[in-house]
Amino acid sequence: MVAAVRIAPSAATRAASLLRTVQYAHPPNCPCHSNPGHHHHQAKSQVDRYAQRASKRGYASPVDQKEYAFEMAASSIRFGPGVTKEVGMDFRNMGAKRVCVVTDSTVRRLTAMKQVEEALTKEGVEFQVFDKPYAPDAFLAVGGGSVIDTAKLMNLYTEYPDADFLDFVNAPLGKGRPIERALKPLIAIPTTAGTGSETTGTAIFDLVAKRAKTGIAHRNLKPTLGICDPLNTRTMPAAVKASSGLDVLCHALESWTAIPYSQRTPRPTNPIMRPAYQGANPISDIFSLSALRSTVKYLPRSVKDPDDFEAQSEMLLAATLAGVGFGNAGVHLCHGMSYPISGQNPGYKHSGYEVDVPIIPHGVSVAVSGPAVFRFTGPSNPERHLAAAEAFGVDISNVRREDAGAVLADAIQEFLVKLGDQPKGLKDLGFGAEHLDALVEGTIPQARVLMLAPGLRTELEAEKEQLRNLFEDAMSY
Ligand SMILES: [Fe+2]
Repeated sequence: MVAAVRIAPSAATRAASLLRTVQYAHPPNCPCHSNPGHHHHQAKSQVDRYAQRASKRGYASPVDQKEYAFEMAASSIRFGPGVTKEVGMDFRNMGAKRVCVVTDSTVRRLTAMKQVEEALTKEGVEFQVFDKPYAPDAFLAVGGGSVIDTAKLMNLYTEYPDADFLDFVNAPLGKGRPIERALKPLIAIPTTAGTGSETTGTAIFDLVAKRAKTGIAHRNLKPTLGICDPLNTRTMPAAVKASSGLDVLCHALESWTAIPYSQRTPRPTNPIMRPAYQGANPISDIFSLSALRSTVKYLPRSVKDPDDFEAQSEMLLAATLAGVGFGNAGVHLCHGMSYPISGQNPGYKHSGYEVDVPIIPHGVSVAVSGPAVFRFTGPSNPERHLAAAEAFGVDISNVRREDAGAVLADAIQEFLVKLGDQPKGLKDLGFGAEHLDALVEGTIPQARVLMLAPGLRTELEAEKEQLRNLFEDAMSY
């Protein structure tokens, strides 16, 4: 309940209480479900305020003009085997005296956490693993995407103790208020190779009261430093390696094929209003395509051979590269459609996941619609779809432009089949024709804001029909 949040006595207690209002899906989320156009749907008063300020200073407020600029934001990244050991010195170097460590019960037992505790103790940095109110001067997240996103929110609401939780949540569910204050330092140490959350300013959660997946996205939310230590991802079981790697694959493919930033409207009236998810742009392109090539090369090896440390290490790097790519460009249909797929799970339990409840891992839920999605988006930009197919090893020299989507779809399909243990479409997850309406309805809150999806119509009925066709096409491959 949001109301409960407002009466919490201290910032830290309040942050904890806020976290109870949101619920992280299991397995860890990735930071992509959020509304890529959150600032487009900014609360009107907020937009008006910035527009007024802009016009006072003699700038136009071109709400119907297209974007003309793009911006690159990412955390500092340090990458190397064993680099977790340096984190104590980092906090000492920045003068932090009290560090709030955010983790979860699984990671708490892993070597990553032991390394962290040793590193902090060695440098005499006081810390507390988050479980009770604490007034830290810095945050440290050790875990998957959910843990890192939780730490981002704790940092945010510690700095804004009087804000209403929904103030910063993406519109239309929240007010989409931009983060104007500098937050406390946050260091993120990922223990999975998937979400790329250590690089982005996005935090994703299920808003229990609204039964919706949404998030908070702003550059000022991004970690100060991401410490990517390939030793920390060795503990992932093969099934988790596969699904988190498929998340990376979709981050790369979707950000590479998202509408170009220059097609997005409106042009922001103030740079603080420029969304993190801007559409494809020349900087994110480099990261997205590189991440795609690495994933195609190393994910199968990393899944099949638990001792292939080179492949695991390259997958952690690919996850981070893709994080920078989609963190600045955004994602589209695979992620938008994955919300109702995992949320309306008819009872599927993915093999290799040690849980007692039905589960469609995030990476599986995004990849399952991949062939259908890229068949659909192909005509929007045949060159990019062909380049992506080429990254899968397809000889594209004689492929017709009009076949670009189909050729990429085939390449993705073959990749998924060879990877193994993947559903061959929604039917394998237990979905049938009777679920189509609900799947479409469940995507609309996402699709309304999926303005980065190329080829998706803006009129509601037309959009619904397109989504229905997409889900139908995704039933089997
Ligand atoms: Fe994702």
